[in-house]
Amino acid sequence: MADFSNHKFGTKAIHAGADPDPSTGAIMTPIFQTSTYVQESPGTNKGYGYARGKNPTREALQKNIAALENGKHCICFSSGMGATDAVMKLLRPGDEVITGDDLYGGSYRMFTKIFENYGIKFHFINLTNADNIKQYVNANTKLIWAETPTNPTMQIIDIEACSKIAKANNIILAVDNTFASPYLQNPLALGADIVMHSVTKYLGGHSDVVMGALVMNDPKLHEQLYFILNSCGANPGPMDSFLVMRGIKTLHLRMERHCYNGRKIAEFLKTHPRIEKIYWPGFTDHPNHDIAKKQMRDFGGMISIVLKGASLGDTFKIASSFKVFSLAESLGGVESLINHPVTMTHASIPKAERDKAGVVDNLLRLSVGVEDVEDLIEDLKQALA
Ligand SMILES: Cc1ncc(COP(=O)(O)O)c(C=O)c1O
Repeated sequence: MADFSNHKFGTKAIHAGADPDPSTGAIMTPIFQTSTYVQESPGTNKGYGYARGKNPTREALQKNIAALENGKHCICFSSGMGATDAVMKLLRPGDEVITGDDLYGGSYRMFTKIFENYGIKFHFINLTNADNIKQYVNANTKLIWAETPTNPTMQIIDIEACSKIAKANNIILAVDNTFASPYLQNPLALGADIVMHSVTKYLGGHSDVVMGALVMNDPKLHEQLYFILNSCGANPGPMDSFLVMRGIKTLHLRMERHCYNGRKIAEFLKTHPRIEKIYWPGFTDHPNHDIAKKQMRDFGGMISIVLKGASLGDTFKIASSFKVFSLAESLGGVESLINHPVTMTHASIPKAERDKAGVVDNLLRLSVGVEDVEDLIEDLKQALA
């Protein structure tokens, strides 16, 4: 296996884990579409027993994602939620988790509707001031789960500050790095123990695969999480692994364009008369801009806006009137999407909690794609007219 650990990001994206197939020289990793592997005698195999546990296409992808996060190990899952679920299964009844008050709605739903039933306690707090964490730490605290930038209000959590508190108290720090992608942010380098990705988003990049990944350095954590994957079975298929590997080959190019388009659109919207508030960490007056500048390479293509004086009906009308942006859940694909969190991605969060986090009826979230930005701006102009 060629070693690309000392190469730059784009070279790793294209080559890491993707050695030519030894039997044919095929430059693209084959899709090993098999559920099992033939054994010469019972227990004697070529390192592969049954495909829930191991598949060569998936392994190539895992090596690639590990390289992009500068991590030693990666485990891929059938979805981002499958990956999050595995991390939560490290916990035992009575354990406590400190997490943010602005989270992807599906994470909030899993924590409150699934894992609270298993006796795990979650504290949903403002993580933008890491010192807030200290007052919730006690002997039962086992995990800090931080999402940064947050979904959808684009708060930035200081990963290094969180990791200092986690390390001092023997707590695992897991970071949901979905919004940033490994191109913009590498949480392990900032002291996180586990990085989680909804691979469905920027890594896959083409809105054709649902997948998740965890990256870690610690061999014991890797062993525990791999045991959970193999025991619980949220493994991705080989075709999806192939598609994601293909998508990742252009991750650096796509991210440059997402960031470029994101900046142009954020600047256009900032002074637009229909906009009351805009959330994008690249603005110098964003409350966590300095942290974003410190821990991210650039500011990405995710932007949220609050429409001035718009009722729910007005908001629906605007959300439905785009011609280039598509009204859809998800993010991070080549095509621009518009999302209404209150009725879509964050509908499972109670209204009182949503209001506290600023996820209001007239908030729209934009996933800026890689189309020509002039066309995207024209589309925004007509929809907001
Ligand atoms: C920040 C974040 N984390 C996790 C997830 C869940 O990932 P998946 O949809 O791949 O299960 C999402 C999905 O929207 C997300 O936006």
